[in-house]
Amino acid sequence: CDFGSNIKANALVAVKESLGFKELGPSSHKSRGIAWKRAGELCSKPQFIVGGATRTDICQGALGDCWLLAAIASLTLNEEVLARVVPAGQGFGDNYAGIFHFQFWQFGEWVDVVIDDRLPVKDGELVFVHSAEGNEFWSALLEKAYAKLVFVCVVSCSTSEGFEDFTGGIAESYELSKAPSNMFQIIQKALEAGALLGCSIDITSAADSEAVTRQKLVKGHAYSLTGVTEVNYRGRKEKLVRMRNPWGQVEWTGAWSDSSSEWNSITASERPNANAEDGEFWMSFSEFLSHYSRIEICTLTPDAITSDSIKYWAVSNHDGTWRKGSTAGGCRNNPYTFWMNPQYVIKLNDEDDDPDDNEVGCSFVVGLIQKNRRRLRKAGEDMHTIGFAIYEFHGQRDVHLDKNFFLTHAQKARSETFVNLREVCTRFKLPPGEYLVVPSTFEANQDGDFCLRVFSEKQTETLPCDDPVDAELPDESVSDDEVDSGFRGMFVKLAGADMEISATELTTILNKIIAKRTDIKTDGFSLETCRIMVNLMDDSGNGKLGLGEFATLWKKIQRYLGIYKKNDMDNSGTISTPEMRLALKEAGFTLNNTIFQLLVARYAETDMTLDFDNYVACLMRLEMMFRVFKRLDPHQSGFIELDFQQVCHAITF
Ligand SMILES: *[C@@H]1O[C@H](CO)[C@@H](O)[C@H](O)[C@H]1NC(C)=O
Repeated sequence: CDFGSNIKANALVAVKESLGFKELGPSSHKSRGIAWKRAGELCSKPQFIVGGATRTDICQGALGDCWLLAAIASLTLNEEVLARVVPAGQGFGDNYAGIFHFQFWQFGEWVDVVIDDRLPVKDGELVFVHSAEGNEFWSALLEKAYAKLVFVCVVSCSTSEGFEDFTGGIAESYELSKAPSNMFQIIQKALEAGALLGCSIDITSAADSEAVTRQKLVKGHAYSLTGVTEVNYRGRKEKLVRMRNPWGQVEWTGAWSDSSSEWNSITASERPNANAEDGEFWMSFSEFLSHYSRIEICTLTPDAITSDSIKYWAVSNHDGTWRKGSTAGGCRNNPYTFWMNPQYVIKLNDEDDDPDDNEVGCSFVVGLIQKNRRRLRKAGEDMHTIGFAIYEFHGQRDVHLDKNFFLTHAQKARSETFVNLREVCTRFKLPPGEYLVVPSTFEANQDGDFCLRVFSEKQTETLPCDDPVDAELPDESVSDDEVDSGFRGMFVKLAGADMEISATELTTILNKIIAKRTDIKTDGFSLETCRIMVNLMDDSGNGKLGLGEFATLWKKIQRYLGIYKKNDMDNSGTISTPEMRLALKEAGFTLNNTIFQLLVARYAETDMTLDFDNYVACLMRLEMMFRVFKRLDPHQSGFIELDFQQVCHAITF
């Protein structure tokens, strides 16, 4: 499962280029002179991991992968999380086979990535993240495995994405200059929930990278936020945050730093112990907000946490698809198709505990990830622009809400933006109740797969909101006696001497009639469709239609025609796929997204319309399917069991 080193060198360059490190393009000087060496060729006694993963195991490589560094550094703070990404029992000892494996989270599941231990080296130095001692290789191999995954799966990377891929959690990013008023509380709750928090100071130029400010903060560098507290200071409450520089040194020298004078005004019992030169320090929350640019909060899923003291968040996961013509409705700017998107209901039952801010409500984070876009890049496709809208919702759960709902209801909340990133993720606080989430691409008719996740402080229910698959079929049968004389006369003329109409005859008849109509478009009924009609009506089993059978079929076609005309809103003579979904409902069929996607794929033209014969063919087939099933399932158990003879009969009739 490994390619040759040359290919990998190219892959590496490709990865880095797509990360935005343009200076690492294939012809750049940085990518030249890279050699691939096994760990055993780099030092005499290579080790996989020594004394657990520690912060000194993570030194930035020549590629400047600081976003990755931040994510890996946070990993080392949480043994359980790390143990999942870096499975134990690997090493360069007896069981060494030249390969290692790691686990990453991709769109709802953990995937195993296996690599060999050849690593890129330039001028004798590892290009990847590496350990300070130079003989411990878990971090470099982790980066290699991640590069292999990323090369296959994602376009751009960020600390948030790294966080998610290493933990399966959900990562929110806040710009601190625009922090919400309850930012401190969000951080506090995140820490209580065992989240990983990363902070950084933006750089304005490349030269700024790792520049150290007067008060010893490092720019363009990833810090972890590891604690918060509130102390009584000169008669008022002072909010403090504890930061950690993953270097294990270079600490903040301003107010509240190690051994700063502010601590003298604090009673001993309130004073946290933080005096060592260990990279960890305190600062006031207000100075944190003004000095740092950004915080990323990665909330973990319950399965990543075993400690009892942690109040973990509940999570639910739903996979879905957008398909051209059926479920890719686009954003709300597309009022005629927006309702076609997949829909989900979130049920918020309980308010958050101890809301200090005056706003009561239920906190939850919705994340929408687009899947597999990286793989499609070869075909010239890039990330879609994605987002979601949230509506207040009362009433029936098991219906796919239609156009009218969205034309008459205002959205209650929405994703912060529609963006062309792998994931959009937004936090909400809403009163208890039921809400509808509609994930979409910005433009309509863009195929895509997604994973929708809802993280909540309290237990919530998230369910797909879709129609149950069912059909209510009216009994339209007309007996021979009920047929009026005019129709009888016509039938005699059409049927000929045998007084029966065959599928071939039916084709001729229908096409003659339909050719005269200018209000509907059709390219004529096929023999195939007419055969289905005959089979559907043919109670006598002789493969032809008698008088009553033909009258019944005629009545049905008239009804379907009425529905077709009514739903052809723009009188184009064809119906669009959204009109088709409404027409199907009116004809008695409720179908879920999956089945509607199939019908559109099979019956719609490339311009996402159906002409009359395709429309009728689709309805006839559906009706056939439901009638066959209902006949075989007389007690409506929802299941049928067939022997071979029954299958032959069901399929051929
Ligand atoms: C749609 O209905 C079919 C048939 O009942 C079922 O197999 C399928 O899982 C349903 N799709 C969804 C998304 O619920």
